[in-house]
Amino acid sequence: MLKLMKKLIQGGRFTPDCYSDEIEKKIQRYRKEKIKLPPRKVLRTPEQIEGIRKSAKINTALLDYISANIKEGITTAQIDKWVYDFTTEHGAIPAPLNYEGFPKSVCTSINEVVCHGIPSEHRVLKSGDIVNVDVSTILDGYFSDASRMFMIGKVDEEKQRLVQVTKECLELGVAAAQPWARLGDVGAVIQEHAEKNGYSVVRDLCGHGVGLKFHEEPNVEHFGRRGTGMLIVPGMTFTIEPMINMGDYEVYVDDEDGWTVLTDDGAPSAQWENMILITETGNEILSK
Ligand code: MF3
Ligand code: CO
Repeated sequence: MLKLMKKLIQGGRFTPDCYSDEIEKKIQRYRKEKIKLPPRKVLRTPEQIEGIRKSAKINTALLDYISANIKEGITTAQIDKWVYDFTTEHGAIPAPLNYEGFPKSVCTSINEVVCHGIPSEHRVLKSGDIVNVDVSTILDGYFSDASRMFMIGKVDEEKQRLVQVTKECLELGVAAAQPWARLGDVGAVIQEHAEKNGYSVVRDLCGHGVGLKFHEEPNVEHFGRRGTGMLIVPGMTFTIEPMINMGDYEVYVDDEDGWTVLTDDGAPSAQWENMILITETGNEILSK
C-alpha cells in the first residue's frame, strides 16, 4: 500500500532521476504504444555502471589468463583452481561458487556438454576437445559474466566450424542489441545464422540481466522474431550467450550431479558469452 502510494506520488517518471529527459520521453512514447518495457530496477545509475565495469574488467582479465594457459593434458580442476586464485587475488569472489549449491568456481563444458559442466580432477583436456570456460565475478557486490570456447590440440573441421559459427551468432546478437531495438531482434539474428548453417539454438537456457545480481531480468532468448519482446533501453546490462548445437536443440540435465546440461542426441554444442551495457548510441562490451 505504502509502496503503491509512493509510485503514484512520483508522478509516473519511469527512469532514474539521473537519466536525460530525452530518454524519459522516448520511453513514455513506447509505453503508450504498450510495448513491453524493462523493469525500472534494471536501469543502472552511473555509479552502478562504474562498479559493474570494474567487476567486468577483472572477469575479462581472468578469461585472458585462461586463454594464455589452457592446454592439452591439464584437468578441468586445474582451470577451477586458476579461477579461484586469480579472482581472490584481485579482491573478488567467483560468483558460481556455492551459487544455488554449485560446488566449483567456474563452469567447464566439453563437447556434448552444453553448459554448467562441473570441473573435475578426473577430466583431462585431450586433443580434439572443444571446451567452454564460463567465468563470473563479484567485486564490491557487482556481478559480471562471460565465456569463451577453446579448441584443444587438433580439432576436426566440423567442430571448428561449430565454434566459429557460434562466435558469429554472438557477434550478430551484440550488433542487434541497440538502444530502442527489441530483444526479439537479438534472438532472431542469432537463430537465423545458426539455422542457415544447419545448427539449432538451445531453447531451455538464455542470456540474462546481470550487474546487481548474478541473474536478473530480462531473459535474453537466442531465438525469436524481430520487432517482438522487451524494448532495449540505455542503462541496461545483460549477457548474450548463445548455445548452438550441431544436432537437435533438445537438452537434459544430468540427474547425478543436478547441473551438467547435455545435448539429447549426444552431438557437440558450443557457446560464447559477452556481457554488454546499452548506451545512448549503441552498446559497450563490458566483459568478453
Ligand atoms: N555463468 C552461467 C551463465 O552464463 C551461470 C552459471 S550458474 C552456475 O549464466 F552455478 F552453474 F555457476
Ligand atoms: Co550468463
